[in-house]
Amino acid sequence: AMMGKGNYNHFMQKEIFEQPAVIGDTLHAFINPATQTIKLPDMPFSFADATRLTIVACGTSFYAGLVAKHWIERYAGLGVDVDVASEFRYRCPPLPKGGVALFISQSGETLDTLAALRYAKSKGQKIVSIVNVPESTIARESDVVLLTYAGPEIGVASTKAFTTQLTVLACLAVTIGRENGTLAKDEEAAIVNALTEVPKHAAEVLHHDEALKKLALDIADARDVLYLGRGLGYPIAMEGALKLKEISYIHAEGYAAGEMKHGPIALIDQSVPIIVIAPSDELFEKTASNMQEAAARGGRVIFISDGPGLSKLGDMASATVELPKVADFVAPILYTIPVQMLAYHVAVHKGTDVDQPRNLAKSVTVE
Ligand code: G6P
Repeated sequence: AMMGKGNYNHFMQKEIFEQPAVIGDTLHAFINPATQTIKLPDMPFSFADATRLTIVACGTSFYAGLVAKHWIERYAGLGVDVDVASEFRYRCPPLPKGGVALFISQSGETLDTLAALRYAKSKGQKIVSIVNVPESTIARESDVVLLTYAGPEIGVASTKAFTTQLTVLACLAVTIGRENGTLAKDEEAAIVNALTEVPKHAAEVLHHDEALKKLALDIADARDVLYLGRGLGYPIAMEGALKLKEISYIHAEGYAAGEMKHGPIALIDQSVPIIVIAPSDELFEKTASNMQEAAARGGRVIFISDGPGLSKLGDMASATVELPKVADFVAPILYTIPVQMLAYHVAVHKGTDVDQPRNLAKSVTVE
């Protein structure tokens, strides 16, 4: 069927606004609400036997892999390596006996990711994929396929595919944690409960659209934009920077907040907007002190946090975005949405081709 934009101006905008629904659809496929437990499809192996997990992907899907590394190492006790497919495949990495390899791809057709899958298979890894297209090549060549229920994604810059990938990866992390005995029943129930509330919270985040449209005016003239985050916020900083680069053509970098003093701090003056991703989690104070360092050097800080975070430090920022206070675990899913909207509005303001940015393709099936 022909996909329309409905009441939206661009597919990207429509896809951003579909996120509460498609995250909900994806959760629905994997959560049993009655028991507050996660149920993934049966697998021909157990993660309890896995010695190591190797995650490979490209682009936005790679950043989903970085969030997953944090979740799986932290909550499930399994060591994870993550790499971009174009590096992984040519490095000929040794892969451990009993290893599992996970490939994340919206299209399921990205050539480098497929080549990496074939390499991992040749090295005896169990192959799991997370794809949005069930009949894709990557899905067909996997031992286990976990689907995102994002529906067709038309905009070249990935949005709803990413947040549904995170949703599936969260379910996978919980499952591995249960199998490994690192997550107790009540901990699983707490995470499931937090995940179940993500669609509602995502809808609340979308209410910031007008405010983010105004903030976009401050960014549209910048030459460089810095995105900072720590822990689960670090990959979201990189994803925010990627979104901005892709569709507004402004140079942006996502950096680990604690690493800023080793380089990017030299860039900071009044002309460089700094987007700080800082839910009030266990790393909040650390990120906050990096934000202070940036503000002290004249940086124009846009502070994305929650009620408790803003009441502590909101005054220091040039602008703030208040997200709902949620469990640390699910924060990266929600904090993605404002950085998508910000990039979108900057691009619209600049008049770029939002859905078809120059030089980029939706699915990269050639080298
Ligand atoms: C292209 C797209 C990106 C996407 C990447 C990986 O570069 O423009 O939006 O993240 O490919 O695509 P995949 O389909 O494998 O997730």
